[in-house]
Amino acid sequence: MFLRKMSNTEIGLYPLSYKRGRVMPDKIKAMFFFGTRPEAIKMAPIIKKIEEGNSGIEPRVVVTAQHRQMLDQVLDTFDIEVDYDLNIMRSNQSLSDITERAVQGFEKVIREEDPHMILVQGDTTTAFVGGLVANYHKIPVGHVEAGLRSFDKFNPFPEEINRKLISVLTDIHFVPTSVSKENLLREGVPSDHIFITGNTVIDALFRTVKMDFDVEESFPFIDFHKRIILVTAHRRENLGPNMRQIFEALGQISREYKDVEIVFPVHLNPRIGDLAGEILGDLPNVHLLKPLDYLSFVKIMEKSYFILTDSGGIQEEAPSLGKPVLVLRKVTERPEAVKAGTVKVIGTKKEDIIREMKNLLENEEDYMRMSHSINPYGDGRASERIISILRYCFQKDSERPRDFIAPGLEVIG
Ligand code: UD1
Ligand code: UDP
Repeated sequence: MFLRKMSNTEIGLYPLSYKRGRVMPDKIKAMFFFGTRPEAIKMAPIIKKIEEGNSGIEPRVVVTAQHRQMLDQVLDTFDIEVDYDLNIMRSNQSLSDITERAVQGFEKVIREEDPHMILVQGDTTTAFVGGLVANYHKIPVGHVEAGLRSFDKFNPFPEEINRKLISVLTDIHFVPTSVSKENLLREGVPSDHIFITGNTVIDALFRTVKMDFDVEESFPFIDFHKRIILVTAHRRENLGPNMRQIFEALGQISREYKDVEIVFPVHLNPRIGDLAGEILGDLPNVHLLKPLDYLSFVKIMEKSYFILTDSGGIQEEAPSLGKPVLVLRKVTERPEAVKAGTVKVIGTKKEDIIREMKNLLENEEDYMRMSHSINPYGDGRASERIISILRYCFQKDSERPRDFIAPGLEVIG
């Protein structure tokens, strides 16, 4: 039976009824399956934590390389060794391309390794494929960053659907906050399959922010005496007309405010770079950069005045650094920081973006209100909790690990 109701006194997740023949492993072979930049950033702290300690977990790292260069940047930064690299990325790949190549590649790896557990992260097509192929082999799935919902099928697209599909395939749901737990409970996921851990991105952020790095020396062409507006944009639903409006708004702000530097590490999707070059390429206070390695990006976030983005992960990181975020989307699946006041969803219309940017540049009261540091997404210990939960589910420990409780967010029973 799949997703069966399980009490805390019952024998964890293993051996699952459909793997009855297997004996309890001495070491849990946990396969980490990911492929894009954000998945790597959010998986890295768990893998590093396992490597550092004596957890009884034997990690296997499998990457689709849905992102090639942007994934490799993260693997280098965190010094992660890969066991299998499916190398699927193609320029301008379609969702079906990614799915097809990742399914075929992962199938072979699973047959060879037969892991005890497969861990996927977030809402990418790679993560969905991980859950799907694991299920074809009746291998339990752990979903890191489970339970996020925007409640809008096409925003973000295809991530909202991926998340829901992954939840159906998942056995252990590692949710970042009580809000995400509530979403899953509403969909009928049994409470004892859900563990509130905080988001591992905060672990990655805390590890990185304390590293020594001279950002001004590394980016001598950026004038850090001016106010830095950090920008990222990549969502599929924003490609085309929305992206044009975003870039035109940036152009207007850069022309009107000479005391501002716009720093924009451009995602490698050619549809973004081409348009950014066309609209923003000649503006002296707009810096179109290649994607930054995580350390550089975090250090520039720290130096920024505010952030304009359609990214998911940045909505989680920026509040911890006390940086206001204007979100270039219709909706967000991350309501916690919106509620706390540091994140504002502004859509993608040119006039709305200009108005909101000007407000933050001119209205000090509003700026101060949005720039306090809060940590609704984690305390830097999510990876530790996930490891303890795996040990608990595989009967290495008998006590159910405690949930992460975010400051200011109510606990759900
Ligand atoms: C993917 C995820 C999205 C996640 C985002 C993080 C899906 C459907 N989308 O979207 O959820 O938020 O990653 O950034 O899973 N490219 C390169 N080199 C790279 C990376 C990308 O050249 O290192 C180019 C390629 O031409 C590729 C294109 O970007 O075809 C788009 O990449 P893709 O992974 O399909 O979509 P993202 O928008 O990056
Ligand atoms: N990031 C990075 N370099 C960059 C831009 C972003 O390392 O040039 C990091 C950022 O700190 C965050 C993650 O990448 O942790 C977000 O990735 P992205 O926006 O691509 O994906 P999303 O979070 O929207 O899925």
